[in-house]
Amino acid sequence: MKIGVFSSNPYDETSLSALADDRMSIQYFSAHLNDATVALCNGLDAVCVFVNDDVSATVLAQLSAMGVKHVALRCAGFNNVDLDKAQALGIAVSHVPAYAPEAVAEHAVALMLTLNRRMHKAYNRVKDGNFNLNGLLGFNMAGKTVGIVGTGHIGKATAKILLGFGCQVLCFDPYPDRHLQDAGVQYVALDKLLAESHIISLHCPLNEHSYHLINQDSIGKMRDGVMLINTSRGGLVDTQALIDGLKMHKIGYLGLDVYEMESELFFKDHSCEIIQDDVFERLSTFHNVLITGHQGFFTQEALSQIAQTTLSNVKKCADKNMDTTTFLVKP
Ligand code: NAI
Repeated sequence: MKIGVFSSNPYDETSLSALADDRMSIQYFSAHLNDATVALCNGLDAVCVFVNDDVSATVLAQLSAMGVKHVALRCAGFNNVDLDKAQALGIAVSHVPAYAPEAVAEHAVALMLTLNRRMHKAYNRVKDGNFNLNGLLGFNMAGKTVGIVGTGHIGKATAKILLGFGCQVLCFDPYPDRHLQDAGVQYVALDKLLAESHIISLHCPLNEHSYHLINQDSIGKMRDGVMLINTSRGGLVDTQALIDGLKMHKIGYLGLDVYEMESELFFKDHSCEIIQDDVFERLSTFHNVLITGHQGFFTQEALSQIAQTTLSNVKKCADKNMDTTTFLVKP
């Protein structure tokens, strides 16, 4: 089996190569898969892609013409793949649905705590010999209301941590989870969640229904000074509406691990370049905004689980033994 791994970083190579067997020959490409790079797939049986690879209809048509039979996502989200086109072309698509939901949940909570207790500022102050506490005032998490939008694997793990802090947890999901209700959360309508939560954390997938779920209108329904956390997908929020909300003091804290235009920026070192994205640059000037570069998934446990499931999917596809848990398209 010849596999091409796109958007590859040294840690991908380490985790995948450690688990590959003799039947697999893996080529690693640091480039994203897109129209410009798809020619590299000639002769491959499978391509392994990540969050910012472009697996659109045109790319899939070219993959099909080259004989590629499988697109193996090494992530949970699949908003960057045209599943209908893959089905029509007979290309299998697999993903890694739950590799370590706690990794992303713990990162979301890390963003909440850092913003709340201003750890990012405190770290720099103490390094600079400044022990002044002005501007570092936080609030107790216990007793606060936290709204979780999307209670799948990651939303559930986040809710459980927050219940442990003594928060009141409100959830919105078209498919409520009875076990989570038994654990103490309350499912409510989205508008009620927006209106009552001190902290709102997004954990639903990006699709045509959730695109710009957080916009000028929904921000208007939130509490003044709300904390908003997005570790899911950048397209869930209208970034310009966030900037307006921050300028009007409606949003009091913003924690982002994802950004709508992240494919131009994230996972690469741009420290010696002039960043051309003015929206991103404006966002990063606010003292109450904390941005991380899509690192929610980035734990040892998650990388190992991702590699294991991805390579198992490659084998299952080659053996024509595709299951419904990890295969989104089974030709
Ligand atoms: P999941 O599929 O287990 O859960 C998603 C939940 O969202 C489901 O319960 C579904 O019913 C619900 N949902 C769907 N549409 C909704 C809507 N419009 N409003 C409210 N709820 C809705 O997915 P999982 O594993 O929990 O991952 C969630 C998202 O997290 C992924 O789609 C991905 O975009 C993102 N993610 C981010 C990572 C990071 O490193 N920052 C890593 C892994 C995933």
